[in-house]
Amino acid sequence: MNQDEQKRSVARAALDYILPRLANDSVIGVGTGSTANHFIDLLATIRGQFDAAVASSEATAARLRDHGVRLMELTAAPELAVYVDGADEVTAERMMIKGGGGALTREKIVASASREFVCIADASKLVDRLGRFPLPVEVIPMARSIVARALVRLGGTPELRPGITTDNGNLILDVHGMDLADPVTMEARINNIPGVVTCGIFAARPADVVLLGNADGTVRRL
Ligand code: A5P
Repeated sequence: MNQDEQKRSVARAALDYILPRLANDSVIGVGTGSTANHFIDLLATIRGQFDAAVASSEATAARLRDHGVRLMELTAAPELAVYVDGADEVTAERMMIKGGGGALTREKIVASASREFVCIADASKLVDRLGRFPLPVEVIPMARSIVARALVRLGGTPELRPGITTDNGNLILDVHGMDLADPVTMEARINNIPGVVTCGIFAARPADVVLLGNADGTVRRL
C-alpha cells in the first residue's frame, strides 16, 4: 500500500473503533489534515448514527458540511465522545507533534474537550523520540520576534512559516533542532512564553489510542 492508502485504511480502522462507542446523541471531534480527511469521508457514511461533529479547523468544517454532517460549535457541545485526528510524529507513549497543517491550537482545544483521543497515522509517523519534524508554535503576531528569541534560548531554530495566517489570525513558527527528550516539560515551557498561543507538542495529554496503518495493509494499535 502507498502512504495515502495506509491513511485511508487507518481511517477505516478508526471508524470501526468508534462505531460501538457512539450513541444517537454523540458529538464527535474531528481533526485536520490528509488522514483526517479520509476519516471525514468515511464518517459521512454513518452520519445517521451520531448527532453532530465539532471541527478543529475551517477546512475540516467545510469538508464536513459538504458531506452533510451536522456541525456544532464547541461552546454549544456537551463532552465530546471521541476526537479523531492525525499526527506529524507519534511515539510508543502516544505523545505527538502536531500542527503541520497549522491547526494545532484548535486541535488541542477540541482534543481536551473529548473523552477519548484516537490518533490515526500511517506507519512513517512512528518515531522513537519526538523532534525531527520541525515543531509548530502558534504565535500572536506582535510577539513574533520576542517568542523567536525565547525559542532560540530554549535551543531551537525558529523559522516563520511563510504566507500562513491561522484560523485564529496568528502566525506559525516552525522550530528546528529542539531537544524534546522531555516532551511534557518542554510543552509547558514553550506554552509559558508570553505571546505563544500553543505549541504542537501533545504530551501532557497524549492520545488514548494510536492506530497505525502499515504498508502491508494491517493496522497496529498502540
Ligand atoms: C494539522 O494541523 C496537523 O496536526 C495534522 O494532524 C498533521 O499535520 C497530520 O497531517 P496528515 O494527516 O496530513 O499527515
